[in-house]
Amino acid sequence: MTASISDHLLAWYDAHARELPWRLPPGTPLPDDPAWPYRVWLSEVMLQQTTVAAVKPYFEKFTRVWPTVEALAAASDEDVMAAWAGLGYYSRARNLLKCAREVVARGGFPGEEAELRKLPGLGDYTAAAIAAIAFGRRAVVVDANVERVVARLFAIDDPLPGVRKAIRGAADAITPDAHAGDFAQAMMDLGAQTCTTRSPRCLLCPLRGDCRALAQGQPERLPVKPAK
Ligand code: ADE
Repeated sequence: MTASISDHLLAWYDAHARELPWRLPPGTPLPDDPAWPYRVWLSEVMLQQTTVAAVKPYFEKFTRVWPTVEALAAASDEDVMAAWAGLGYYSRARNLLKCAREVVARGGFPGEEAELRKLPGLGDYTAAAIAAIAFGRRAVVVDANVERVVARLFAIDDPLPGVRKAIRGAADAITPDAHAGDFAQAMMDLGAQTCTTRSPRCLLCPLRGDCRALAQGQPERLPVKPAK
């Protein structure tokens, strides 16, 4: 059997995953610890409109001051808003606290994507990311980085945003049943570091043999931006 795209990607991730404070090393079994989904949720909310580099110190501060969702739920609005200062998009901090209180009231984070999606501040992307990373559920996790990787892999050249559904379908087709969290984070790392917008580093890419846009010669052209 030939190795699939997810096999290539997961093998690359084993060797090249970024070490981040909210991550487990590749291949680690999910911890049986209620603080684990809390840490994944917190990191994903912080990462919604903010870079990994900017999020790191805030994630470390929040988990030091509030190590569990119960601790965060019991915090005052003022303390949480003050700790969030500098991260921007302050509605995220308000929703964070609202969500923490709802989660405590219901006895913990739900593991299903559809239930996660109902919590304050969780959109399609964040609900899918938490289902995959925190709970190991198969979920199609598509952010802007993943969108770029998938558009290039399959040379999908209709313009954004109309093409999103096709990109999502293609992402679904390559998402494996196992290793959901590693696969999602590997796609994000590949998009952030290798399959970059302007000068993709195709020589270093574990998917270079699978990539139709590379075979066609101009991967940086994709995805096609909306007409102005
Ligand atoms: N961006 C959003 N979530 C991320 C994650 N878990 N790892 C890397 N980049 C991300």
